[in-house]
Amino acid sequence: YPIFAQQGYENPREATGRIVCANCHLANKPVDIEVPQAVLPDTVFEAVVRIPYDKQLKQVLANGKKGALNVGAVLILPDGFELAPLDRISPELKEKIGNLSFQSYRPNKRNIIVIGPVPGQKYSEIVFPILSPDPATKKDVHFLKYPIYIGGNRGRGQIYPDGSKSNNTVYNATSAGIVSRIVRKEKGGYEITIVDVSDGHQVVDIIPPGPELLVSEGESIKLDQPLTSNPNVGGFGQGDAEIVLQDPLRVQGLFAEFLLIHTIMYDQKICKPFWLLCLYFFFRF
Ligand code: HEM
Repeated sequence: YPIFAQQGYENPREATGRIVCANCHLANKPVDIEVPQAVLPDTVFEAVVRIPYDKQLKQVLANGKKGALNVGAVLILPDGFELAPLDRISPELKEKIGNLSFQSYRPNKRNIIVIGPVPGQKYSEIVFPILSPDPATKKDVHFLKYPIYIGGNRGRGQIYPDGSKSNNTVYNATSAGIVSRIVRKEKGGYEITIVDVSDGHQVVDIIPPGPELLVSEGESIKLDQPLTSNPNVGGFGQGDAEIVLQDPLRVQGLFAEFLLIHTIMYDQKICKPFWLLCLYFFFRF
């Protein structure tokens, strides 16, 4: 859950670029992010995140039964960018967002936004409403090109914050030896007794309800050999995008320049030769 990341990591993106959800959501699956190429200051825009998966899939739930997958995401924006306040979000954008309620990763990290778990059937595409900063009022923000990072997940994780395994992962033998006994427990799951033939030492590996058993009594197994299948059908993925915080004065300046050049050339009746020249260079290079 994103809350596990919030509780366990000051920054969700490690120095290597890896997003921390990957520490517990071990399978890799794709995500996709779409943002405008450029935005003006103090403007609301959409970041669209897609977490695709086969909606027919069911996963193992904590009680061992099968159920639908949920999704969640963490969006890491440049400093100064943040969730758009409600009163700045248009009715059209509100409709795209649905009933989602986004959160800052930390009260002092408003540029990092988390969401989830939410039902994947409905929210495998998530629209984040973002407000761009204004360099005129925020001195540490500049008109530049910035990176945006996204981490997105569908399905349950494999490891809990205390390091223990969830039932949505593979279980391996903690000793080599012979499987001497398999007890199927009432509420699902197994107790597998392995006897090390070299010294008679016994271990009991406990499998929770969920993963399917791959070994049978009497079988000889190696250390770390999988005792179960891997029931995980979900996975985590990360991606990035770039966005330019565009100075409106520069856009206006560019238009003014075009207009000026065009006017001058129109005056001197050299518009046509100018375009021909442009065409020539266009095809030449
Ligand atoms: C469950 C997302 C970080 C461990 C989930 C679910 C989502 C999610 C959406 C629910 C899946 C479902 O019900 O189908 C994320 C995201 C993370 C993140 C986006 C990063 C921002 C972590 C971390 C850990 C973790 C750091 C481990 C410390 C788990 C576990 C479950 C889970 C064990 C299953 C819980 C249960 O059902 O008992 N996560 N997660 N997650 N997550 Fe994460």
